[in-house]
Amino acid sequence: MVEDDAHYLTIPLPDDWHVHFRDGDMLSLVVGHTARQFGRAIVMPNLAPPVTTAAEAAAYRQRILDAIPDGIPFDPLMTCYMTDTISVDEVSAGYRDGVFQAVKLYPQNATTNAAAGVSDIRMVYGVLERMQADGMPLLIHGEVTDAEVDVYDREAVFIERTMTALVRDFPELKIVFEHVTTKDAVEFVEARHAEAPGTIGATITVHHLMINRTDMFRGGIRPHLYCLPIAKRERHRLALRRAATSGEGPFFLGTDTAPHHVESKETACGCAGIFSAPAALELYVRVFEEEEALDRFEAFASRNGPNFYGLPVNAARVALERVELEIPEQIEAGALAVKAFKGGETVNWRIASRSDLT
Ligand code: NCD
Ligand code: ZN
Repeated sequence: MVEDDAHYLTIPLPDDWHVHFRDGDMLSLVVGHTARQFGRAIVMPNLAPPVTTAAEAAAYRQRILDAIPDGIPFDPLMTCYMTDTISVDEVSAGYRDGVFQAVKLYPQNATTNAAAGVSDIRMVYGVLERMQADGMPLLIHGEVTDAEVDVYDREAVFIERTMTALVRDFPELKIVFEHVTTKDAVEFVEARHAEAPGTIGATITVHHLMINRTDMFRGGIRPHLYCLPIAKRERHRLALRRAATSGEGPFFLGTDTAPHHVESKETACGCAGIFSAPAALELYVRVFEEEEALDRFEAFASRNGPNFYGLPVNAARVALERVELEIPEQIEAGALAVKAFKGGETVNWRIASRSDLT
């Protein structure tokens, strides 16, 4: 990190290790926001229907590249959607050929477009064996789907019921515990990292660093703060802030930016997902500044992710400038409108320049 002076923070170009781009008009509307701030992104496969073959992933990747505004260098890293019946050879060949970077596992019906997810993890033990042998990462949405379990407890119960057995049965499998939201998950990741470094990673979203469950109901119900896993109590948010700003290896940036049309959010049964892409990097920096940890931002945003995935850190650099920036309320094109996380508020950082853009 180079802190040129109090006004600038210059770091290697960060990556976003968890993004939903969708497809079609929504893809075109949102992709530039991520490409502007990040060099690469792990792209979630939960389209309808989901991305389950290398051919579909390659075609989707091309649609993403076609939708990126001219001249922005950006590398989408594709994932394969795990189903009960996915072919081991398809997954393995897709990884070997460099099409798939990882496999995403959604417990069946855990979240948006998770109906085709895994009904019982034992169904996919054969695929996990091969992934472990190949060194291919498994990205897990870590929540149980048992209707009896309180929504705020689903991540902690997942650790007890699934994660613990998974790391026991696949001691060398590379696992990312996605969008951790609890102190329990942070402690699980820290303990696992201590016993088997390099096998466990965790993404942390900017919204989980900034809001707790009470914020969802501040002055009334706030559908644009509803996502899965749902925001938890304040003590969990504080644990996430400690983990992210520790700079420790297993914790890295993953926004889980998940755009939904405004009408699908502001309705009697609204979709889960927070669209944070318009100012994600700027908001993360603000969190690190608040925690007096700007010197550790580079590890979290630019180094720990590539290190986990065995990829090089981006050669390009980005300069963040301490200047007030107003976040747009929403972004729109034609009939499509998506509300931005922290829209209408100002953030005290903006991207001043990127060395790979002239
Ligand atoms: C995501 C979506 O909308 O695709 N929603 C969310 O609340 N994060 C799915 C997911 O990552 O759980
Ligand atoms: Zn997600």
